[in-house]
Formats: sequence, structure tokens, C-alpha cells
Amino acid sequence: MFDNRTHVENNQSDNKNARLILNPQSKLWYVYDKNCKTQHIQRKISLLIIVTIVVVLVIIIIPIIVTNRQNKKGQQTLTTTFSGIESASSIITLTETISRCNVTSCRERIQKSIAQNWTYDTVNFTECNSCSRATYPNFPSDWSTRWYDMNFLIYTSESSDCAGNPYIGNVEFCQYACLKDITCIGFSRAKAALDNSSSAGCYLKKNINLDKVYNHDIWYTIIFRRYDID
Ligand SMILES: *[C@@H]1O[C@H](CO)[C@@H](O)[C@H](O)[C@H]1NC(C)=O
Ligand SMILES: *[C@@H]1O[C@H](CO)[C@@H](O)[C@H](O)[C@H]1NC(C)=O
Ligand SMILES: *[C@@H]1O[C@H](CO)[C@@H](O)[C@H](O)[C@H]1NC(C)=O
Ligand SMILES: *[C@@H]1O[C@H](CO)[C@@H](O)[C@H](O)[C@H]1NC(C)=O
Repeated sequence: MFDNRTHVENNQSDNKNARLILNPQSKLWYVYDKNCKTQHIQRKISLLIIVTIVVVLVIIIIPIIVTNRQNKKGQQTLTTTFSGIESASSIITLTETISRCNVTSCRERIQKSIAQNWTYDTVNFTECNSCSRATYPNFPSDWSTRWYDMNFLIYTSESSDCAGNPYIGNVEFCQYACLKDITCIGFSRAKAALDNSSSAGCYLKKNINLDKVYNHDIWYTIIFRRYDID
């Protein structure tokens, strides 16, 4: 060690700026001279080159990584959106199924109340969920669109007629009479009678037996559509 120092000190003649430095931590002697400085500069340059390479790599690689990640994110978002659309469609389908007015159950519930002379508001009837609201003594007003004219007569017979025939009144009156009778599916009426004629007779029917149904010159039948056609 000391020899080295001597050697270095001897070299001082060649290099006036050379110094011997003791690193207090490692307790080792180091030569510090101009050559060293040059080496330092060379090291600095090497370091600079390495740093530059690293920086360039980072500049190139980071955007690639970020882009990849964004792509992945994009895919995830897309996937999420698609499953979102799927759930949305299922919810819509579900809502459609749930929100359809069950005309049969609502009508039965209203018929019962009317038969008992009980006032009602259909918002209180679970049977009338999603049906348009009606209060005593009415049925939901949009059910007026459920009536269809059929060009046939259902002949009068015990098996096809409801109780109380004939009902005398305009079409609206007969429709209401039919809705109130739990067995009624429609009524036959004279073709010549005006809808607003209060003196025309309606024959309420409880079923359509094919052997009792005929096309007729004078009579037609108005049928209440209980089910939605999908
Ligand atoms: C409507 O309600 C009746 C009972 O009131 C039930 O038998 C029928 O299945 C229901 N219809 C639908 C489509 O839910
Ligand atoms: C409902 O009221 C009518 C008269 O408005 C009456 O003739 C009928 O008996 C009543 N029905 C019941 C179940 O109370
Ligand atoms: C409907 O139910 C509410 C309470 O839920 C009640 O206050 C109201 O009187 C009911 N309406 C009819 C017409 O029964
Ligand atoms: C019945 O309706 C016809 C048109 O369809 C009209 O000319 C007539 O005045 C109406 N009669 C009554 C009593 O409202």
C-alpha cells in the first residue's frame, strides 16, 4: 500500500496534479490526477451515452406500453359496454315481460269489485299492475281499443249466451256490460245499428263454438281481445 503511494508520489514528477486520496470509508488510497479526471470525463461521457440510450428506450418503450395498456383498457371498456348492452337488453326484455298489463287478471279483479258495489282504484290492485289506471265503476279506458268487429253471428243458444240477453244500448254500453260479466267474450249486434244507437240489442256471448258461428247478412259480432298478440 505504502509502496503504491510512493510509486504514485514518484509519478508526481510526471503529473504535478496527481494526488493520493484516502477514502475514509473504505480506508483505501486512491490516485487522483489529471488522467483520472480524463477517465472521469470518459466515464461521464459513457454515462451520458448510457443515460441517453436509457432515456431514448424509455421514450420509445413507455408510449408502447401505455398504448398497449390503453388498447387493453379500450378492449375492457368495449367488453363492458357490450355486456352493458346485453344487460340493458335483458332488463328491457324483463321490464317488457313484467310491465305488460294482464287484462284477464285485472278484469276479473274489477268485475269482483263491481259485483260487490265496492269502490276501487286499480292502483290498489296488484292484478292491475301496468294496466292504465281506472276507478269505480270503470275499466281502463285504453281497453276500448281491444274490441274487434267480426263478420259472423254467434247463434243464440244456452251454451254460447251469457245471462241477461238482450242488452239494449249503444256499443259502449254493451262493451261495458260485457266487461262486467266475467263469462263474456263479446256480443253480436245488428250490422244496421249505429254504434251510438241506444235502442239496438246486444247478445252477450261466453264462447265461440264453431258449430254456432256463421257469416250473416244482418248480424256481426264484436269480440274483446283479452290477450296481446306478440
Ligand atoms: C294473468 O293472470 C291470470 C290469473 O289471474 C294467470 O292465470 C295468467 O297466467 C296471467 N297471464 C300472464 C301472461 O301472466
Ligand atoms: C249493488 O247496488 C245495486 C244498486 O245500486 C243493487 O241492486 C245490488 O244488489 C248491489 N249489489 C251488492 C252485492 O250489494
Ligand atoms: C287505495 O289504497 C289507499 C291506501 O293504500 C287508500 O287510502 C285508498 O282509499 C284506496 N283507494 C280506494 C279507491 O280504495
Ligand atoms: C250517432 O252518430 C252519427 C254519426 O255516426 C251521428 O250522425 C248521429 O247524430 C249520432 N246520434 C246520436 C244520438 O248521437
